[in-house]
Amino acid sequence: MTAPAPKTRPTPLLVRALRREPVERKPVWFMRQAGRSLPEYRELRQGVPMLEMCRTPDLCAEVTLQPVRRHGVDAAIFFSDIVTPLEGIGIDVEIQPGVGPVIAEPIRTEADLERLRPLEPETDLPEISEAIRIITAELGDTPLIGFAGAPFTLASYLVEGRPSKSQEMARAMQLEHPGLFRNLLERLADIAVASLKAQVEAGVQAVQVFDSWAGSLSEQTYREAVLPVSQRLFAEIEELGVPRIHFAVNAGHLMEAMAESGCDAMGVDWRTPLSEARRRLGDGVALQGNLDPTVPLAGPEVLERKTRALLDDAPELGHVFNLGHGVLPSTDPGMLTELVGLVHELTEKEN
Ligand code: CP3
Repeated sequence: MTAPAPKTRPTPLLVRALRREPVERKPVWFMRQAGRSLPEYRELRQGVPMLEMCRTPDLCAEVTLQPVRRHGVDAAIFFSDIVTPLEGIGIDVEIQPGVGPVIAEPIRTEADLERLRPLEPETDLPEISEAIRIITAELGDTPLIGFAGAPFTLASYLVEGRPSKSQEMARAMQLEHPGLFRNLLERLADIAVASLKAQVEAGVQAVQVFDSWAGSLSEQTYREAVLPVSQRLFAEIEELGVPRIHFAVNAGHLMEAMAESGCDAMGVDWRTPLSEARRRLGDGVALQGNLDPTVPLAGPEVLERKTRALLDDAPELGHVFNLGHGVLPSTDPGMLTELVGLVHELTEKEN
């Protein structure tokens, strides 16, 4: 029997940059690059609830590919949501337009925890793997990024029942019932690990773990209550062999602690200069970010000036260009296409 021919696809720019290897130009992609800034997305979404879209492989594949075709970004991010796996295990969750995830019956007691059963991706979410296979076949050499919500951020939705400014009910639960809070986070870490494993098996080449709302915690509480769980999550996905990005918003005070999770790259929001992130974290992790998402709203001259300034401040090795948080729905997509071209042009190595 002859052995199957080895896959000879080149290692994508994104993966090399995340591993802090030299690249011929910097990779660029945008959080929320698929979504309301694109008219072709708005057209497909008409009348289709967000989570239904996430469970329809053809639609999900199409919206994942739209920003790659339009902007020429160096990676696609799988179109889904951090609450999709919760829906997969039977939690009644809806994404309300302009609001975000709303949970019909919040999780607030030990008994409620039983509703958070382990995720079995093959039976609970077969549509995800199917969509990833369609997307990776279409993408060719462009990599697909998979993702999951980190335990604290998912817990904040489950405990509050809806988006909240400062996650006060979740933080109060951590103070009053630390054992319950820990059990909740551990179950959510298991769900994230199962989901990420299935995504990598289906073909994603990097993963991002969003702990978007961790910034509402003090460093001490983060270290005590969240970091040990995130460390276990990152350790359990290490064997998958793909680069692991960790991201939070408004969490400059947690940067060192979050990097101790064991991630390969830290997503930095626009409030912390990349040179400061590099100084504080050292060169053991790659950095991703961090143009202020309002810059593309401010016209081409500002866009070019701010992009040049960011690139001057960014490390040469181990940098993936991105916004500091998601694309704002009011962004003119033409500005994002221009931004991709600008980053490519300004970072292209001679020869
Ligand atoms: O392009 C991509 O980035 C991939 C798709 C993606 C979505 N959600 C699609 C989406 C990703 C990576 C997410 C992650 C996500 N979801 C996070 C972490 C990232 C972050 O922004 O910090 C969080 C906190 C959520 C929860 C959530 N889902 C929020 C806060 C919202 C926005 C509510 C609103 O309408 O403003 C959603 C809905 C959502 N998820 C949309 C999209 C494209 C908007 C749905 C629509 O078109 O109306």
